[in-house]
Amino acid sequence: MTRITASLLALAPLILLGGCEIGTKTVEQVGPRGSGTDLVVHKATTPKVAAVPPPPFELTIDPAGQKASQAYQNVQVLGDLSADEFNYTMAALTNWVSPDDGTLKNGGCNYCHNPENMASDELYTKVVARKMLQMTRAINSQWRPHFAASANGGNAGVTCWTCHRGQPVPAYRWSAAPDDAATLKGKKFGQNTPGMTTAAYSSLPYDPFSSYIADKQEIRVQGPKALPRGHVASIADTEKTYGLMMHFSNALNVNCNYCHNSQNFANWSQSRPQRVSAWYGIRMVRDINNNYISALGDVWPANRRGPHGDPYKVNCLSCHQQNNKPLGGYPMLKDYPGLKGPAAQTMVQAVATTQPAAAPTAEPGAAPAAATPPA
Ligand code: HEC
Ligand code: HEC
Ligand code: HEC
Ligand code: HEC
Repeated sequence: MTRITASLLALAPLILLGGCEIGTKTVEQVGPRGSGTDLVVHKATTPKVAAVPPPPFELTIDPAGQKASQAYQNVQVLGDLSADEFNYTMAALTNWVSPDDGTLKNGGCNYCHNPENMASDELYTKVVARKMLQMTRAINSQWRPHFAASANGGNAGVTCWTCHRGQPVPAYRWSAAPDDAATLKGKKFGQNTPGMTTAAYSSLPYDPFSSYIADKQEIRVQGPKALPRGHVASIADTEKTYGLMMHFSNALNVNCNYCHNSQNFANWSQSRPQRVSAWYGIRMVRDINNNYISALGDVWPANRRGPHGDPYKVNCLSCHQQNNKPLGGYPMLKDYPGLKGPAAQTMVQAVATTQPAAAPTAEPGAAPAAATPPA
């Protein structure tokens, strides 16, 4: 008996350690000395950077050739491309979204087209794909400040592959959370259901997304004055904010101090430029979710909607997939100039329409000045 107890006791440290992330960690100092802004990376749980498929074929444009808008009947978005580049783009997006590799019942061009009539919009997937083309071009042209901190000088960009990775419905998406029914154990009030794709295995609210990256609720915890009257956010909102922040950290596989100086989470002048990228990222995701995905309304069939009937939407994980730079910072637009979007639509225009309502005070909590995105 005592021998069994003794051997169990000997095992206890091992059992306890089982919950830890054992293995090599690298620590990189990313902020001023003494500010504790170190980036701790656990090698074993860091996902490998996924591959980017090569272009479908080598693009040669016939300078005397027609524009897509002249060559075809029903081209509403990509009309400015040459017919050659248009066909090349169709072949590429087939690889990205609905490849004909036997995994899909109706893969290849026919996922979006009736082969008898390529101009027809009878399949909802083609209508969705047209909106996604507009969305991708808007991300690449109007939301460049999100990519600005990048070593690629803001030119990383995204294609359909960034989210889709070879399947029609991206792996990482969200919809409004189901109502939680009162059970014998009690009502959970939208908490205590840990999941990887929500608040990163924490017991914090698992749907911070509806309020903050579909609705435009302010993401604030700290008040401008000391307690007791300085507090502006309710406890519920505070918890939801932390739930969202856990999602940020998990989606990028980084600590909180990848963006913040933990001495003062709200203060912008002590934050890293990455926090400014994230600030634009929040506004970009709201734009994607409201003006493209939800705007498709009744086009989405029932099996593409969540329990509340809203379509599946995008969060930080959809593109980042646990890399601080999606696909390792690969320059996605290098081979697809057609997805860059109209050059005239500058970031300034996008920012002008998305400035937040006045922040509580200039400091803390003030949003970064839109006129000076990081170099
Ligand atoms: C994921 C959906 C999708 C797939 C897969 C797809 N297309 Fe398209 N296709 C579209 C959309 C959207 C348009 C309209 C683009 C626009 O309005 O600018 C279009 C338009 C076209 C047109 C113009 C037809 C006309 O007369 O208006 C042709 C030709 C075409 N596609 C060929 C192809 C070929 C060939 C393939 C397979 C290699 C393919 N497409 C795969 C979505 C798709
Ligand atoms: C920012 C992420 C993102 C990017 C970039 C993106 N999509 Fe999507 N796409 C989504 C999400 C999320 C859904 C699923 C919505 C749902 O299921 O309600 C989706 C759904 C679709 C569907 C419907 C599939 C089906 O079976 O219902 C098509 C077609 C599609 N996308 C085409 C494209 C094309 C073409 C591009 C590039 C021009 C593209 N997408 C770029 C996020 C993205
Ligand atoms: C990828 C960058 C990023 C990461 C990682 C991140 N945050 Fe944030 N955080 C932000 C941004 C951006 C805002 C401001 C959002 C806004 O103003 O719309 C913010 C706001 C906050 C606020 C509210 C500050 C105020 O003004 O009241 C708190 C608190 C906070 N974060 C805590 C955390 C914690 C704790 C973590 C780690 C679990 C974390 N953050 C991880 C970018 C990040
Ligand atoms: C449409 C795809 C997409 C979505 C959605 C997205 N990002 Fe990004 N993000 C990118 C790309 C692409 C880059 C630039 C990569 C590079 O520098 O090569 C980037 C860069 C960043 C950076 C700078 C990284 C660095 O080290 O310089 C931060 C921080 C960031 N994103 C945070 C977020 C947050 C937070 C969200 C959710 C609110 C978000 N992103 C949503 C595509 C996306």
